[in-house]
Order: sequence, then structure tokens, then C-alpha cells
Amino acid sequence: MDVINVDYSTKIPNNVGLTEDRRILRALEGWHPGYLDWWRDMGPEGFQEALVYLRTAVSVDPKGWAKFDYVKMPEYRWGILLAPQEENRTIPFGQHFGEPAWQDVPGEYRAMLRRLIVIQGDTEPASVEQQRHLGKTAPSLYDMRNLFQVNVEEGRHLWAMVYLLHKYFGRDGREEAEELLRRRSGSTDAPRMLGAFNEQTPDWLSFFMFTTFTDRDGKMQLESLAQSGFDPLSRTCRFMLTEEAHHMFVGETGIGRIIARTCEAMRAAGIEDAEKIEEVRALRVIDLPTIQKKLNLHYSLSLDLFGSEVSTNAANAFNASLKGRFHETRIDDDHRLENATYPVLKLVDGEVKRVDAPALTALNMRLRDDYAADCAKSVERWNKVIEKAGVEFKLRLPHVAFHRQIGEFRDICATPYGELIDREAWRHRSHHWLPSAADGEFIAELMQPVQGPGQFASWIAPPKVGIDNKPGDFEYVKIAA
Ligand SMILES: [Fe+2]
Ligand SMILES: [Fe+2]
Repeated sequence: MDVINVDYSTKIPNNVGLTEDRRILRALEGWHPGYLDWWRDMGPEGFQEALVYLRTAVSVDPKGWAKFDYVKMPEYRWGILLAPQEENRTIPFGQHFGEPAWQDVPGEYRAMLRRLIVIQGDTEPASVEQQRHLGKTAPSLYDMRNLFQVNVEEGRHLWAMVYLLHKYFGRDGREEAEELLRRRSGSTDAPRMLGAFNEQTPDWLSFFMFTTFTDRDGKMQLESLAQSGFDPLSRTCRFMLTEEAHHMFVGETGIGRIIARTCEAMRAAGIEDAEKIEEVRALRVIDLPTIQKKLNLHYSLSLDLFGSEVSTNAANAFNASLKGRFHETRIDDDHRLENATYPVLKLVDGEVKRVDAPALTALNMRLRDDYAADCAKSVERWNKVIEKAGVEFKLRLPHVAFHRQIGEFRDICATPYGELIDREAWRHRSHHWLPSAADGEFIAELMQPVQGPGQFASWIAPPKVGIDNKPGDFEYVKIAA
């Protein structure tokens, strides 16, 4: 079945033939009210009645899959959209390399597969929860709309995983789907499953860093799952990646616009030294060293999402042909990794060194390396903005040993340059590298809402192009009175 267009005749838009699949349709209709309750309780606070100019997927054809219109967020058509089935797709890696892709869950891997889906699913609502207060301080209607677009799509990603749970995992799948609505970001009794998704996103600088770095972890995970031998998971992830690209666009251009505005204000005021923090802040813009600190924080939290450098779970998921590598099909090797090695960063006699490990257990490390290379490109583009403005300053990714809570470096302290230091030195110096309470207060104080069409807060430049090519003064959100 090759369904490109989406069926909107059911309550749940889909291209998976739900009208003929009454059992699953009923199960999902049963889950729907709980989802809407969750959205109203934990989704964007204060804007549920606003008309938001959102894109909704109407097709999975990469050439034209979305349409834009004003929608009240609770009425957004969250749907179930899978990329078209590739005919005769074979499994691209692992012990089942070359076999036809599975259309049903292989019994022996059921638990492992369910866990992968649940972990992915858990991150989607978590970020909506983390970002729920940000609408109130949006620096423009354009940015507010982008936030809400990201939020509704993360909601749809939750639907995507819940569909797989309902369709392929019976009773325990339904229970997991309920649990996904029960856990809450930052809660003490029922937190979200991964650390970075229990942190706060208190301001817009954090939001843009989160969408640059943490959504990009999402991209890497989805890319690996898109390789899966379990075809429905692969197809779901392939379509999610189409949406995910916009989230990283929001993050990267958001930071780029903050930087552009800061540099412009510095130039106008004749400030050459980017380290003159107080003078720069007096211009109502965010100084570059503070941007570096937020980058350090969000990048290091996101690195933790890749898990331990050496991991038997990752090896098992690869062997089972459930979770592959980034761009698996483009890699030129045996796709089984039976004798291959991969250089892993380790702590050897108090020094950070690359040590060869079996490639199979080093898959997290490899994915993290691919991720770091991808992140470096964003930082490069930000540095171009600074350079073009004629300001002398360079942003950089901190060393992977910096500020880690998971993996090889969790018990040591390192500077952003990778130099190991003792705990005492860390206590004295870490406020130079991570946002301090005072930095947070300064940013919080800057976060005043700007809600007039075409207007922007003092600390961020307007975008070069509007969403859906709309003009600069377009009313992206009609806020209900
Ligand atoms: Fe997502
Ligand atoms: Fe995302």
C-alpha cells in the first residue's frame, strides 16, 4: 500500500488506513481525550484560544506535504503519517542484514523494540512541557508561532509512537501509551525518562539552544531508527525527520538572529571588546560570553542523551537489526561490525585519549561523533554572523569531557577546553563556563513580551524571510482577547 495523501475523514487524520482498521481506530480514539487533557494542562500556557498560523501535514510527499492556516492549537489535526512503504526494502544492518524488512514485530525482540519506541516517545511530550511558559515572553509573533509549531509537531511525534504501541504491542503497548501521558518533565515522582528532558527551558535563549542541540539529538536518534529492520518504525521516523528539520532551523536561526542583533548594537555603540559584559547588557542585548555559556550548558546536556560511549544495549539493538547508524546505507562496510573497531574517547591515567574499542559496543560514541560534527556546522554559521558584523569573538563547542553526567567523564571535572581540573578548581571557575544565577536574572529581565505584528524585542533581529513567505508585519498569532 502506497498512501501519500492523508485521510481526513476520520477524527484522526492518517495515511495508514485507519478506517479499515477499526480496532486500532477505536483504541486511538480512546487515547485521544487523555491526550487533549494533557495538551490543555501541559501544552502552551495561555494561548489555547489563540489563532496560530500553523502548517499541518496533508501528505507525505516531500515536494508538498504541508498547508498553512490559522488554527486553535487544541483543534490542530494531529495525525498518523508514515513515509510510503518502500517496495522490497531489506534490512540494512545487523544479524538480519539483507533479509526482507519486518512488517510485524519479531517476537524475540519485542521487549527491546518496545523500549526503544517508549524512550523516543517520552522525549516528545517532555519538550512541550519544558516549553509551556515561553509563549508569554515571546520576542515577536513570528517567534511565538515557531514555538507553537514546534510544540504541536512534538505532540504529533508522540502520536506517531503511540500508534506503533497500540498497533503492534497489544495490551502492554496500551499501558505504555497511558504512561507517556502520565510522566511529567521535572516531576519528582514521575519524571521523564532522560535527564535533559527534565531540565528547565526558562527563557528564549534556552529555547533556541534546546532546539539547536537537543532537537538535533532527536534527529540523530530518528535517523538511526529510520534504518530499523522493523519497517513501520522506519517509515514513521522518516516522516518525523521532515518535521524535525524545521525545529533545528528555528533554533539555529534564532541564535543567529540574537547574535546579529548583539553585534549590531555593539557596533552602533562603538563597543569593540565583547567581554565588556555590563556595557553590552546596558544596550538591552545579550552579550556573546553569555551566549557561549548557554551553548556550553545545552550542548553538554545533549551529549548525555547519547548514553555511555561503550554500551552493550546499543550493540544489542544493532545486532538485532532494530537501531542502525547515522546514514547506515551510505556507509561502506559489512554492516554487521563483526571485527571492526572504533576509536572511543576514554580516561586513561588522568588523560583523555582515543582508544580503539569493538565498533559494535562503540555505537553511541560513533553517533555522538556524527552529532558533534553536525553541531559544529551550526557554530560555524553563527561565527560567520559575528565575523560579518566585524566583531572579534568566536563561539565554540566545549570539549566532550566538559560538564558531563553520563558516560566516561561523569566523575571528573574538565574545562571547556578539555583540561582536567579538581573539584575545588571547578567550584571556583565553573561560573565562567556555565550560566550563573546573575546571568539568568539578566536574561529573565530582558524577556518582555512583544506582541505587535512586525515588532521584535530589543535583543533579537527580525528574520530574513517570513514563514510561508509572509511579509514582515504578518500577524502570525491572533491572540484572543
Ligand atoms: Fe520530535
Ligand atoms: Fe523536535
